[in-house]
Amino acid sequence: MIYLDNAATSFPKPPRVYQRMDEFFRHRAVNPGRAGYRLSAEGEREIEGARKTLASLFGARESERIVFTLNATDAINMAIKGLLKEGDHAITSNLEHNAVTRPLCGLEKRGIISLTRVDASREGFLDPDDVKKAITSQTRLIAITHASNVLGTIQPIRDIGKLAREKGLIFMVDAAQSAGAWPVNVEDDFIDLLAFTGHKELFGPPGTGGLHVGERAQISPWREGGTGVNSESPIHPTALPFALEGGTSNFLGIVGLKTGVEFILETGVDNIKRHGQRLLTKVLNGIDGLGDRIVVYGPGASEGAKNRLPIVSINIKGFEPLVAGSILDESYGIATRSGLHCAPFAHKCIGSFPKGTIRISPGYFNTEDDVAQLIYALKEIASSVRVTAK
Ligand SMILES: Cc1ncc(COP(=O)(O)O)c(C=O)c1O
Repeated sequence: MIYLDNAATSFPKPPRVYQRMDEFFRHRAVNPGRAGYRLSAEGEREIEGARKTLASLFGARESERIVFTLNATDAINMAIKGLLKEGDHAITSNLEHNAVTRPLCGLEKRGIISLTRVDASREGFLDPDDVKKAITSQTRLIAITHASNVLGTIQPIRDIGKLAREKGLIFMVDAAQSAGAWPVNVEDDFIDLLAFTGHKELFGPPGTGGLHVGERAQISPWREGGTGVNSESPIHPTALPFALEGGTSNFLGIVGLKTGVEFILETGVDNIKRHGQRLLTKVLNGIDGLGDRIVVYGPGASEGAKNRLPIVSINIKGFEPLVAGSILDESYGIATRSGLHCAPFAHKCIGSFPKGTIRISPGYFNTEDDVAQLIYALKEIASSVRVTAK
C-alpha cells in the first residue's frame, strides 16, 4: 500500500517509536511517580523528559506548562471551555477543524459566548486585517488553526498573535497538522495556548496530545482527581501541569510521543518541512500535467509549495470523491481520504461542500516514486471518464 493519508495520522512511525514502546511496556510500565520505588521514579523522569522534549520543539521556556491530553480535540476543549466565560466573544475562522468549531459553536448555541467566524481567501489563507476588524470590546479569545487540514495552507499566526498581544487577547493555535512538520514557536509567534496531537506529524501513538498553557492564560481545571502530589488535600492542585492533569496518564503513549519528537529534533523540522515541500511540488506539478479533468483546490502548481504543508485536495470530474478514493485504494493500492475531513466550512470556502474532496497527504516516509505512482493512477482514472463519457 502507498499511504498518502498522513494528515489523518502519520504512518508508519519511525522504527524507534515501536521499539521504545515495546521495551517500555514490557519492562518499565509501572505507574510513574505515584510510588517510592525506583522504577516508578524512572517512569516519572520519562514523563518529565517528554515535557522537556516538547518544550524544546515549541520554544517553550517552562516544560511544566506542557499538559498532556488525549489528543488535540481534548486539548482544544480544555482550552476553550476552561477559558471562556459568560458574555465573552471569540474569533475563529472558516478553516477550522470541528475540534475547534464545535466547542465554540456549542458555547454560542447555549448563549454563553458570541462568535465571529472570519473567512479565508478561496486559496485558503486568512488575512490578519480581517481578524482585526472582528475584534469587539467583549473579545477574549482568537482561536485559529496553524495549517488547514484540507489545503495544508499555513496561516499568518505570528501576525495574528502579535495583534492578539497588542489588544490584550488570548491567542490559541491549533497545531494538530503543523506540529513537527512546520516550525512553531510559542514565544516568537505570541501563542498563549498551543494545542497539538501526538499521532500526526509528531510520530507518537494515538491517545496522546497536549496543550501548552502560556503565562497569560488562566484555564479552569478540566478534570480533577488523583495526581500523586498534594494527596492530603481534597482540592485539586493549582500548579501546572497537574492543575490540568487528573488520573493515570497514558504514560506508555507519552513515552512513544517523546521518542517521536526526539526523532524530529534529530532530523530537524526544517529538513522535514523541505521533504514535504519537495513531495508537494511533485504532486502539484504532476496533477498540473493531467489536464482539466482534475480540479485542484487551493493554491495550484503555479503558486508552488510556499507556505504549505504537503496536503492537496482534488476532485476528478465525473467521479464522486468517495468513489475515486475507493478506486485509488482497490485498483492501485493507494490510501487517500475522501469527504469533508471534519472541516465543513473549509469545504464551503473552496466550493467542494457537501461531498468534499479527495485529500492527498504524503508524509516524511513517502518517496517521490510514491507520488509518481499516484499521478499515474490519477491519469488512468481521469482518462477512463473520457472513455465512458463517449
Ligand atoms: C487541524 C486539526 N485540528 C484538530 C484535529 C483533531 O485532532 P485529534 O483527532 O487528534 O484530536 C485534527 C485532526 O484531524 C486536525 O486536522
